[in-house]
Amino acid sequence: MENLKKRATFASKIGVVAAAAGSAIGLGNIWRFPSQTADSGGAIFILVYIGCILFFGIPLMVSEFLVGRASRANTAGAYHKLAPGTQWKWVGRLGVLTGFVIMGFYMVVCGWTLVYFFQSLSGHLSGVTDFTANFTALQDNHVKQIGWMIVFTFLTTFFILSGVKKGIERSAKILMPLLFLLLVILAIRAITLDGAVEGLNFLFKPDLAHVKPTVFLDAMGQSFFSLSIGMGCMVTYGSYFNDKTPLVKTSVQVSVLDTLVAVLAGMVIFPAAFALTANHGTIVDSLVAGGPGLLFITLPELFNQMPGSMIWSALFFCLLALAALTSTISLMEVVTVYIHEEYRIPRRSSTLLVAVGVIVLGVISSFSPSFFNFLDVSSAKFMLPIGGFFISLFVGWRLDRQLVYAQLTNEGALKFGVGFLKTYIFLLRYVAPIAILAIFIYGLAA
Ligand code: PHE
Repeated sequence: MENLKKRATFASKIGVVAAAAGSAIGLGNIWRFPSQTADSGGAIFILVYIGCILFFGIPLMVSEFLVGRASRANTAGAYHKLAPGTQWKWVGRLGVLTGFVIMGFYMVVCGWTLVYFFQSLSGHLSGVTDFTANFTALQDNHVKQIGWMIVFTFLTTFFILSGVKKGIERSAKILMPLLFLLLVILAIRAITLDGAVEGLNFLFKPDLAHVKPTVFLDAMGQSFFSLSIGMGCMVTYGSYFNDKTPLVKTSVQVSVLDTLVAVLAGMVIFPAAFALTANHGTIVDSLVAGGPGLLFITLPELFNQMPGSMIWSALFFCLLALAALTSTISLMEVVTVYIHEEYRIPRRSSTLLVAVGVIVLGVISSFSPSFFNFLDVSSAKFMLPIGGFFISLFVGWRLDRQLVYAQLTNEGALKFGVGFLKTYIFLLRYVAPIAILAIFIYGLAA
């Protein structure tokens, strides 16, 4: 590995947070979070979700950063280096496979965002009266769906090839704040619609009547998916951090931002859905039935309530596509660097290889909603939590305690109380793995 170019590092401090946040914030927050929330009963789902972020999301993100920076290698190489000659490398390999599986359906949704962007620009969207039919028509048009999925995959490939610093960092730094601002504006518009209060109640007022027994598994899966943890994405990004990057602080910042964006997206979608649906008796059912289309059905309807709807929707879908792009870049980066470093295939060829694989999966997902769903469920609810389970064991039990402390404190430069460090280790050794297992067993039995 010595003859490979010296690994790049992120240029500035804000670049670090922006790139990791860029990976975390994506369709998971704005598309997947609302449909999971609708499906699992609103406020209680959100409470469990926040619990997951606190008890294992943040500690696991710290752990991934730590493994990445201590090894300065791709996710499988990281385990080779830190635990040579052991089977831990399979955790890294599982992560690479997970990356593939996620991209296999994620790229299809990315394609939808582009379609909606162009439908906004052309004025098509502001003329639509039945948004459900508009979305179904897209799902039934395989050529269009696949075409845009391929476009998005190559867009990602282009950024991967243009290099770590320029590509990822620069785009994330400018676009994320803009997306945030737009969501705030949209939330204000949605909340001030007549009848929006019920949507806010659904989101924030726990109601046992809506809860499903799978709420824990759903929320756990969503937290892993949204934070980009459990597959080594944050290991790869951690490997680009410099020695001064504060791992704990960065993880907290990224997690807070990520959760804020998800909740904001909920505050746009649910008030809008409740206010704009004529038949309130069936609203919860129709939210659930909205499934993966929720965002693409409710939001255009909201835009049509706003003056200059074309501009708002074009801006929104453009920023959404870019948020998705910073996530697909991180996904593809994991797989590409793995192939490049482990098999010594040139970076360019590795990237193209990955792109072709993703396109094949994307084509199958486009034709088969059940395959799409299978990739979604198996990655979010199974592969990511299993990855997280092993990462917590690896850092909690296998890694040398001194190395862990040195990474957390940047060789002593940052001061943490002993209590803090002990709590962190306790969460990783016991709380995270036991909770993940318990949720699995409960979720599967339910
Ligand atoms: N976190 C991203 C999102 O919310 C998706 C993702 C998952 C990216 C896993 C990288 C790794 O959209």
